[in-house]
Formats: sequence, C-alpha cells, structure tokens
Amino acid sequence: VRTIDWVDGAIEMIDQTRLPDDVVTLRITDVPTLVDAIRRLAVRGAPALGVAGALGVALAASDLRDDFEHHVRALRAARPTAVNLARGVDRAAARAGDGPAAVLAEALRVRDEEIAASWAMGRRGADLADELLGARPVVAMTVCNTGGLAAVERGTALAVVTELHERRRLSSALAMETRPLLQGARLTTWELARAGVPHRLIVDSAGPFLLSRGAANLVVAGADRIAANGDTANKIGTFSLALAARYAGVPFVIVAPESTVDLGTASGADIAIEDRDDQEVCSVRGVRTAPAGTAAINPAFDVTPAELITAVVTERRVVRLDRGERLAVSRPHAEASPRR
Ligand code: MRU
Repeated sequence: VRTIDWVDGAIEMIDQTRLPDDVVTLRITDVPTLVDAIRRLAVRGAPALGVAGALGVALAASDLRDDFEHHVRALRAARPTAVNLARGVDRAAARAGDGPAAVLAEALRVRDEEIAASWAMGRRGADLADELLGARPVVAMTVCNTGGLAAVERGTALAVVTELHERRRLSSALAMETRPLLQGARLTTWELARAGVPHRLIVDSAGPFLLSRGAANLVVAGADRIAANGDTANKIGTFSLALAARYAGVPFVIVAPESTVDLGTASGADIAIEDRDDQEVCSVRGVRTAPAGTAAINPAFDVTPAELITAVVTERRVVRLDRGERLAVSRPHAEASPRR
C-alpha cells in the first residue's frame, strides 16, 4: 500500500491522523485541502512530504483558472523543517512552462525516486549494521515513524529494521512512542505489526536509560534535513537519544534519502525548526492532560550535532561521520588540475 499516490486526477493518501484505529483514504482535489492535510499531519514524514508537495503542484497546474504561484507558495510554506517539501514543490513547479502533463510527469518521478531510494536505503543500512555489529543479533531502537507511511513505501530508518528482520538479523525493535503526536506508538507499531517484525513500545524518556542498560545495540533514526556539516534535524527526542547512544557506546545511524541532504544549509543552527500549537503538549489525542490554560513549548524537531552521528546512510552512500567523512565532497583541485 502506498501512503500517497496520484489516482485518476487527484491525490489519494492514507489519513495518518486516523491510524491505528481506522484506515481511511482521503481523496484531495485542491491545494488548500492538501495544505491543511500537510499541516495537521494527515501526510507526514520527509520523503512523503516531498511527494505531496510535487503532486500538489500537479493539482495546481491542472486548474488554469487558479492562481498557480499562490498555491506553490502555500505548499512550500506548509511546514518548514523537512527540506523535501520545498524541494518536491520546486522540482514540479520548474516544469510549469511545459504544461500540466509535464508537471505531473515530474511529480511522479519524485514519487518513483523516493520509492526506489527507500528500498536501497534499507539494504545499505542493513549492510552497515552487519559491519558495525558483526554477527550479533540486532536490537534496534528508533524514534518517530520512518516506515512506508513516511516515505510512500518501505521507509528510511524503519526500512533498515524491516530489512534486518527479513535477513533474520533482527532480534527485535524498540519503538519510542514520540510525544506529543505519538507517531511511534500509533504508526511505527502499526507498520511493524503488519510486517511481522518483533517489537516493543517504550515511553520516550525510557530510551536513554534502556540504552545505558544495554537493551539495544543500534539506534536508527530518519531525518527531516541534514545540513552540509552533518548536523541533522529530526523528530524531537532524537538529540537526547543520540547523547545517550554516545554515553552507552551504541552506534547512532541516520537513514535518509539524498533529497533530505541540504548542502545549502551550512549547519544545524541554520535549520528552521517548526513550532507547533502548544496545546498538542497539553493533551493526548484530544483528551486534556494539563490544567486548562497551561502554556507549553512544542518544538516538533531537534538538531543532533554531527559529532554524535556514527554514519549517514542514503540510497547512494554511507558517510561515516565518525571517521571524519563529510557529506559535501569539495573537489576544487580535481577540476583545476586534470589527472595525467
Ligand atoms: O512531524 P513528522 O511526523 O512529519 O516528523 C517526521 C520525522 O521526524 C521523521 O523521522 C522524518 O521525517 C524522517 S521520515 C522517513
């Protein structure tokens, strides 16, 4: 099942706010409804957002009476942190001059590239786990939801977990519940159960303690934006997990497509972090947990410094940050002085 797709002239997506209780498909035919779906996380996860943005531009391009530029701007700005959204929008919008069919074709290419990348990341990440852990059975801890729901198919970090399971290398997965919107509790457990992957759910604050007790030997996480220096924005809670992984001597691996690597952003300090409605913190699925009127702070993401990251796995490469490798390969001399 694809999280999001183009079906008979409209966008169809699984409404992720309704999971795990109901599997509901939304059919979206206009950009304002899509922007709303993105903001309320009916579609979410960096690669899926890139596809949503690109398909949204295809919707805008198909109705020539509408204000195309206005819709493109609204889609781009729907959420700020995942670079995939703006990238998907820009790729599709760049074809506007060639007509709606060309825009749609580009959007479908974005979708297909993300699907192919997911499968490749799963394989590369599982190979890396073998390299890091040898023959030891893997217990992988993960945060948020990075499965097919977040990436159209298969996933990023969760693709590695699934691949390890299929290779019979996985002992089990530990999923952090991921407050406040519970992507781990609602979505990751749902996906792992459907894939038959053994797993248990933990509260977010148990992650660091369990790592210190040797309960997991690998941490895998996704990314919303990876800066040129390797600093990585991902779901809030990722940074504390990385700190704990370093303390416990457990490898901490980021798994994300190249479309999430943003060489135009120098470091994590330059990444815009989405501040969401503070009332999300004061309730759980619509039930108030704090006294009425309580104010909260609700950063949706944090930034893990590159120095805490063992490796970044993409569909094309494994960058061992722990060995001093860099995402941006600068080759000024290669061009200036050709090889003899
Ligand atoms: O707020 P969300 O649910 O969109 O946040 C998603 C994440 O932080 C994921 O870890 C990230 O986008 C990678 S998804 C493959």
